[in-house]
Amino acid sequence: MASMTRREFQPSDLDPKGPYHLMTATVIPRPIAWVSSRAADGVDNLAPHSFFTVASASPPIVQFTSVGRKDTLNNIEATGEFVVNFCSEDMFDLVNDSATDYPEHLSEFDELGVEREPSRFVAPPRVAGSPVALECTLNRTIPIGDCTVVWGEVVCFAIDERVLDLTNERRPHPRAADLAPLARLGKNEWSTLGRILDEPRKKYRA
Ligand SMILES: Cc1cc2nc3c(=O)[nH]c(=O)nc-3n(C[C@H](O)[C@H](O)[C@H](O)COP(=O)(O)O)c2cc1C
Repeated sequence: MASMTRREFQPSDLDPKGPYHLMTATVIPRPIAWVSSRAADGVDNLAPHSFFTVASASPPIVQFTSVGRKDTLNNIEATGEFVVNFCSEDMFDLVNDSATDYPEHLSEFDELGVEREPSRFVAPPRVAGSPVALECTLNRTIPIGDCTVVWGEVVCFAIDERVLDLTNERRPHPRAADLAPLARLGKNEWSTLGRILDEPRKKYRA
């Protein structure tokens, strides 16, 4: 491998937003949780969050981070429920538009014409066109720095059967290529799924 000359940066060398920009440009690609929540007064909210991953396998818990305090976080703290809707490539413009800083009394669903679909176990609606919706109940919130991490236990995986391999009914498998997920990079960059590699894990042999 060619040798390289690295530049090293400590957070204190950078301007206050520098570490954030380095993290978001290097921890890539990030999946996007399109989080729907419902305010205590009934307004349905929808906002993308790319600080998103799995927190626990069993119980099934997902997490996302609210950078600062936003309507999504306020709603979830007030009601204890949310839905993570997955974003396909064809939803790009809507997902981006839903990150607009609408005032809390306006619903992104209504402002942008995003079709709702009722959830089965929680009050916030699913996005009707999203191939995967994870209905979640709040497990806990964890304040950290200027952020709050939200953990949600998945109580229902609602998946479009057109993307599902049901060879094993007890272990349904959504096909990645059919999900065509959008992902977030740094700055204003986004990406789509590249080449898919499929290789079993190897067992250690002495
Ligand atoms: C692709 C994408 C990913 C985002 N990820 C996050 C995130 O992880 N955390 C966050 O707080 N804001 C994130 N944002 C910004 C929020 O979506 C934005 O602040 C939004 O207005 C919040 O809406 P709300 O106040 O209705 O909750 C992201 C925006 C985009 C476009």
